[in-house]
Amino acid sequence: MTVKTPAPGDLEPIERASRDELQALQLRRLQWSLLHAYEHVPHYRKAFDAKGVHPSDCRSLADLAKFPFTGKADLRANYPFGMFAVPREKVVRIHASSGTTGKPTVVAYTQADIDRWADLVARSIRAAGGRAGDMVHVGYGYGLFTGGLGAHYGAEKLGCTVIPMGGGQTEKQVQLIVDFKPDIIMCTPSYMQVIVEEFRRQGMDPREMSVKVGIFGAEPWTEEMRRDIEQSAGLDAADIYGLSEVMGPGVASECIETKDGPCIWEDHFYPEIIDPQTGEVLPDGSEGELVFTTLSKEALPIVRYRTRDLTRLLPPTARSMRRMGKIVGRSDDMLIIRGVNLFPTQVEEIVLQHGKLSGQYQLVVTRQGRLDDLEVRVELLPEHVNADRETITGELRHRIKTLIGVSAAITVGAPDSIERTLVGKARRVVDQRPK
Ligand code: DLL
Repeated sequence: MTVKTPAPGDLEPIERASRDELQALQLRRLQWSLLHAYEHVPHYRKAFDAKGVHPSDCRSLADLAKFPFTGKADLRANYPFGMFAVPREKVVRIHASSGTTGKPTVVAYTQADIDRWADLVARSIRAAGGRAGDMVHVGYGYGLFTGGLGAHYGAEKLGCTVIPMGGGQTEKQVQLIVDFKPDIIMCTPSYMQVIVEEFRRQGMDPREMSVKVGIFGAEPWTEEMRRDIEQSAGLDAADIYGLSEVMGPGVASECIETKDGPCIWEDHFYPEIIDPQTGEVLPDGSEGELVFTTLSKEALPIVRYRTRDLTRLLPPTARSMRRMGKIVGRSDDMLIIRGVNLFPTQVEEIVLQHGKLSGQYQLVVTRQGRLDDLEVRVELLPEHVNADRETITGELRHRIKTLIGVSAAITVGAPDSIERTLVGKARRVVDQRPK
């Protein structure tokens, strides 16, 4: 398979529409969605009334700023089915996010929602260069997590041959990749690194694998991680973004011809960037918290959902829709070490730029009295197993201090010494502070 950039005729008309056409469609759908939420979900009726707004007050896209935000706490407070906007009998599928504490967040889909989701994942795979007839290995987990089934239905919709492998069982994953020769793989970027290592462990060159395109997401990853995976696995890597509360994978996805950040499928999801402290809407290009309003979801319309993801909105390039920058991190992943704000992705960049270290790393946070301490654990690449660890420790400590501004203790471990996440999202932060 050679990576195919789409001919104009391959795109859906809306992907090539003018901004005016797109915005007219967005406004129509937004007005429908606000009314649908208001009329069918008591939570929205109460929240809109409390703010003194009615769906009929939305006369332009900018009017959306008058409406209240929705947060994870609202979904929890209405657990399990209180946010549904259709009778339960019309719901054909339920997913739930695990939620480390308390109740999971429950989301629902009508048949039309499932069809649209499949269309948007199909659009995402096509944007990454996939076509009908390609074979797609799905390594996202199946089950309540939206990754596996979301990718699966989208790949089928595009007309691909799907291997529903799911997460984990790395040896088996490699065996199936070698024997079936898929064209495309979909999994978390950190798990792709684990697959690459397993190829090497079995004495094979991962660059020889049949896979030409990887569609990676579900966790933050940097441009350095993209380069590392592309070089080690000999493929093109595209970024797919999504979240269960808004739909699942395929809210935004990257075009292979530009690889310049996921293109937001704005015909179905209206994005805003806000100042996370004040809630004020920021102009495109500013960094802040990403907020989404669904424009067509039936079972679970969501109004101004605060994702906690920090990024920027960027102008359209390969399509008529705007893009988002790579996610810097989630506001709840941000560490504050002795007054300095820090995201795991900043450390990832530095670790991968080093050259002798694998992309596996962990940030361990402990507390001495009232002060937090950071330890950065990294590990050597097998080919640099004999490198001088003290030199590397000094280099990393210096770069982290000058680029991020924190003093960190560094532990350079042997190859394979950091625990791999085989199913689900990589755990980059180990918080050992007393609760
Ligand atoms: O992770 C959906 C998904 C599955 C997306 C497979 C892509 C691929 P949740 O479990 O609800 O849904 O987690 C959503 O994961 O708010 C982000 O913090 C993070 N996330 C998802 N995609 C990306 C990405 C799925 N491409 C949360 N880059 C989101 C960075 C991502 N973070």
